[in-house]
Amino acid sequence: MRAHPSTTAPGAGKPDVGLPSDSRRSPGGGGYEATRSRVETYFDRTAAGTWAQLTSDAPVSRIRATVRAGRDRMRATILSRLPEDLSGARVLDAGCGAGQMTQDLARRGARVVAVDVSPALLDVARERMPESLAGRASFHAGDMLSSEWGRFDHVVAMDSLIYYTAAEVGAALAGLARRTDGRIVFTAAPRTALLMAMWGAGRLFPKSDRSPTMVPQTRPGLARALSRAGCERELREVARINSGFYISSCLEVAP
Ligand SMILES: C[S@@+](CC[C@H](N)C(=O)[O-])C[C@H]1O[C@@H](n2cnc3c(N)ncnc32)[C@H](O)[C@@H]1O
Repeated sequence: MRAHPSTTAPGAGKPDVGLPSDSRRSPGGGGYEATRSRVETYFDRTAAGTWAQLTSDAPVSRIRATVRAGRDRMRATILSRLPEDLSGARVLDAGCGAGQMTQDLARRGARVVAVDVSPALLDVARERMPESLAGRASFHAGDMLSSEWGRFDHVVAMDSLIYYTAAEVGAALAGLARRTDGRIVFTAAPRTALLMAMWGAGRLFPKSDRSPTMVPQTRPGLARALSRAGCERELREVARINSGFYISSCLEVAP
C-alpha cells in the first residue's frame, strides 16, 4: 500500500487571500473569486481527464504534443531559477495540477506544499507520486494564495496565474512575497499578436468556450501592479518559451 502524503479537505480553514475585487477587467466578469471558480469547474470536471493525459506519457495529438514539449521546457526553466539542492527548503507549488513540478521539487530534496483548487487533479498528483518521494510532499485542496499554508523559502506557480488580471496577479505576488524569503517563479501569457487575437475571440464569444480565458500580460504591466500592491521587489522576465500552441513567459520576483 502506497504511503499517501497528507491532504487538506476543500474549504478547510478560512482562506485569507486578500485580493482586491477587479471584476471590471476580469475576462468573464466577477473578479478573482469568480475566475477561480471557473478555473475549478474547468480543471476539476470539464478537463480533468484531458489534463491528466497531457501531463502523462500517453500519446496525444500533434498540437498537444507541442504544448507538452513547451511545458517540459518551461518546467526545466522554472527549476533552473532555484538552487539545485533544495534539501530542507519549504517550497509552495501553487496550482500544482497533476503534480509534475511537485515531483521534480521533491527529487531535489524540497519539502513541497502542493496546493490546487481541483480535488480531482490532486488525486492524480497523489497517485502519481513515487513512493520514495511521498513523504516530501503534502497535498492540499484550496486556494493557492491562502495565508493558511504558511511561509516558504521559494514559490513556483506554473501556468496557474495566467487566468487572472494584472491587478490580481500583482496582489497575489505581493501577498506571496510577504511570506517568501527566496524567489517566486511563475508564468504569464505574453501579449503576442496571436494570443491577443485568441483573447479577443474569447471576449466576443465568452459562452462558446467553457475554458477559462487566459489574460495576456506585459512585464512592465505586472511590475506596476506589483508595486501598486505595495511590494517593491524586482519583477523580471527570465525566458519566453514558444513551442507551437504553447507560448508562455517565465518571470520571477527576486528576494
Ligand atoms: C494550467 S494548470 C497547471 C498545473 C501545474 N502547475 C502544471 O504546470 O502542470 C493550472 C492549475 O492551477 C490551478 N489553479 C488556478 N487558480 C488557482 C487558485 N486560485 N488556487 C488554487 N489552484 C488554482 C488549477 O486548478 C489548475 O490545476
